[in-house]
Amino acid sequence: MAISLEGVSYVYSRGTPFQWCALRNVNLRIKEGTVVCVLGGTGSGKTTLALLLNGILRPTTGRVIVDGMDTKDKTVDIREIRRRVGMVMQYPEHQFFLPTVREELLYAARNYLGDEIDEERILEKICEIVDLDRHLLEKNPFELSGGEKRRIAIGSILGYDPVYLVMDEPTVGLDSAGKKAFKEVLVSMKEKGKTLVIITHDLDFFVPLADEFVVLKEGKVMFSGRKENFIKNIVPRLEEYGLKSTLKLRLMRNLEDFRGSDEDELIIRALSKGLITCPSSRE
Ligand SMILES: Nc1ncnc2c1ncn2[C@@H]1O[C@H](COP(=O)(O)OP(=O)(O)OP(=O)(O)O)[C@@H](O)[C@H]1O
Ligand SMILES: [Mg+2]
Repeated sequence: MAISLEGVSYVYSRGTPFQWCALRNVNLRIKEGTVVCVLGGTGSGKTTLALLLNGILRPTTGRVIVDGMDTKDKTVDIREIRRRVGMVMQYPEHQFFLPTVREELLYAARNYLGDEIDEERILEKICEIVDLDRHLLEKNPFELSGGEKRRIAIGSILGYDPVYLVMDEPTVGLDSAGKKAFKEVLVSMKEKGKTLVIITHDLDFFVPLADEFVVLKEGKVMFSGRKENFIKNIVPRLEEYGLKSTLKLRLMRNLEDFRGSDEDELIIRALSKGLITCPSSRE
């Protein structure tokens, strides 16, 4: 099973003076069980791509097929597509519409799993996974901090176990405890074979987890492929795509270590191989 994009273009405000082509002839296949990172500079089309994956947007031309279902096909139940493809939006406020955190966290589970669900168990599981304090459950989601909102946005799709999870900049606003908890969530999802599509600028956080990369520029796919190829061929040219290289990425490339997640360890190995040198204490 997979999500396929076939010749997809997307034009905002078509037929008006503000018409803007945000995606151009995108062909991609997101296979079940892979972790895909979508990268690109501001305005390159990442969020537009994400919104096409569960039918929030439908392609202007081309097709998006989710496990055999075309998002443009009027005979297909869009709810079934949304049940399979969970979405964490770039701005959590855009997905909140209920008066309490509790309602917000349970909405998708109630909607997709029916009335028979054990709501307390689901809430307990979500709060534990995203490290959310239960005293927030009765609050209005709009009255929370950015990091708390992000945790709720992530938590709301964990309650019903979609096949594909699309997350647009999910680490923005998370503090180090939030990131640590989130990393554990991602690792356990990866181990369970979930498909994750992550839009991010936070390369150091996601590169160790990712299997594949998609790089967008001005609405076009400039690269799509395995991590090894990305690190060898794209990491030296990240600036061309509006992205910033990092020490960890450069070390991973030089050491040909495509899994390294611990920067200190990468530095020690690079030192021991003479790839980098320590400045002398007299300098
Ligand atoms: N609702 C809209 N109406 C018109 N143009 C839009 C709309 N949303 C996005 N665009 C334009 O489409 C292009 C792609 O936008 P998109 O939000 O997909 O970019 P992005 O890669 O997610 O950027 P960022 O990194 O800033 O989130 C941009 O040029 C943007 O101005
Ligand atoms: Mg965006």
